[in-house]
Amino acid sequence: MSEQNTLIVVSNRGPVTYDKVDGRRVERRGGGGLVTALRGVREQHHVIWIASATTDEDRVVAGEAGGGEVVLVAHEAEAYDRYYNVVANPMLWFIQHSLWDQASRPELGLAFHDAWREGYARVNRSFADAVVAALDEHPDATVFFHDYHLYLAPKFVRAARPDALLAHFVHIPWPVDWSVLPEPMRRAVHDGLLANDVVAFHTRRWAQNFERSCEDTVGGTHGTRVTHHPLSVDVAEFERLQASNAVRAAEATLPRPEKLIVRVDRTDPSKNIVRGFHAFAVLLEEHPEWRGRVTMLALLDPSRQSIPEYVEYVADIERAVREVNDRFGPVISVQVADDFPRSVAAYKQYDVLLVNAVSDGLNLVAKEGPLVNQRGGVLVLSENAGAYEELAEWAIGVNPFDVWGQAQALHEALVMEAGERARRADGLRAQVRDRDLSQWIAGLLSDLPRAAA
Ligand code: G6P
Repeated sequence: MSEQNTLIVVSNRGPVTYDKVDGRRVERRGGGGLVTALRGVREQHHVIWIASATTDEDRVVAGEAGGGEVVLVAHEAEAYDRYYNVVANPMLWFIQHSLWDQASRPELGLAFHDAWREGYARVNRSFADAVVAALDEHPDATVFFHDYHLYLAPKFVRAARPDALLAHFVHIPWPVDWSVLPEPMRRAVHDGLLANDVVAFHTRRWAQNFERSCEDTVGGTHGTRVTHHPLSVDVAEFERLQASNAVRAAEATLPRPEKLIVRVDRTDPSKNIVRGFHAFAVLLEEHPEWRGRVTMLALLDPSRQSIPEYVEYVADIERAVREVNDRFGPVISVQVADDFPRSVAAYKQYDVLLVNAVSDGLNLVAKEGPLVNQRGGVLVLSENAGAYEELAEWAIGVNPFDVWGQAQALHEALVMEAGERARRADGLRAQVRDRDLSQWIAGLLSDLPRAAA
C-alpha cells in the first residue's frame, strides 16, 4: 500500500476500548457514528487511529510497545479530567449547542483557567506529540482530526511539521457567538483550527458560521478551506442489524399501543428531552382523544455522568416523566440504558419519531430511524438539527423551544393520512440510501488531494 494512502485519524474516542474481565483482556468496539463511518475508510486506506486511553486496561495497552494501527494515548488522569469534564464538556459543548443559561452560568473562575492550561492544552499537546511520532513513521500521511476535544492540536502539529496535510471534521454545531469564552481562548480555538488545510462540518449553516466567527475573531480564514459534508449511516450494516436476532428479540418486548411515538437520544441537554415530554403533555391536554391510544417511548443512553450538568439533566428527565405520568397515567415509557438493539427495534415500529434537539451538528437518529421503519412513520425534526438541511422536505419541522408547536406537529403526524405518510417515508429512505457513507467519505477525500490519490 502506498504511503499516500495513509490516514492518521485523531479523535478522543477510539474504535476499540479494552477491559479486563476475569483476568483476561476483552476488546469492545467503540460505538458512535464516527467509528462506523470510518470503517469504510479503513477498507480503502491505511488508517492509523490515535485516541485517548479511557479505561485502566486501555492504559496498559497504551504502555505496551506497539506501532499498531490503534494508538492509545494515556493522559495524566488529572489533566484528562480537566480536559474532558471541565473544558470540552460542558464548556465547549455548551457554547456550541447554545446551552448556557447566560443570566447565571457559566462562571469562569481560576479552576476553569487552570483547566484550560493544565487540562485542555496539555491533552491537546499529548495528542499532537503522538501525531508527530506517527508522521515520522509515515511522512506523507494525511492527518484527520475530529471534533471539539482537539481544537489546539493542529497548531502544535503544524509548528513541528509545517508541510503536513491536516484536516479537521467538527461534528457539532458552530455558533457565531463565542463571547462566553475569554478572548485568548477564543482566539486559540480559531487559530488552532485554522492551522488545518481543511476544516469541515456537516452542513452549510455551521460552515458559514465558522467563516463569520473567524472573521470576527482572527480576521478571516487565512487560506484554510472550509467545507461541509453531512455524515450518513452504513445502509448495508443497518439492514443486517434490523434483521438480527438481538433486534427481533427486543422488538417482541416493545409496548404496542395504537400509536407509538419514539425518541432515541443520549441523556444530553442538547437533545431537548424534557421539552419533548412537555410537548407530549400538551398534546394529551389539547387532544384528549389520544389519551389511552398513544404512548411515548424514550430510549435514552446515559451520557457523561461525571459532569454535574448531565447528572442534573437525568434528574430533570425523571421528574418530567413522573409529572406527565401522574397526570395522564403511564403514557411515557422510559429506559435509561445503552441498548442499541432495542433502539433499532423501536426505529422499526414507530408511528412518529421525535427529534427536537435544541441544536445538533447533524443527528444520526433522524437518518437511522427512517431507514428501517416499517410503519410509514413520520419524522418530527428540529430546525436546529443539521440533518434538517437535507431532510426538511419529508419531515415536519419544529422549533425546539416551541412546546406548543411541537404538540401540534405530533398531532399532525398522528393524523396524517397513509398516502402522505408513505410519500414522506419513501422520500426519507431514498435520501438516506442515496447519500450514504460512501458519499461522505468521497466528499471528504476530494478535499484532501494527496489522500485521494
Ligand atoms: C458526540 C460527539 C462525539 C462524542 C459523542 C459521545 O457525538 O460529537 O465526539 O464522542 O458525542 O460523547 P462522549 O463524551 O461519550 O464521547
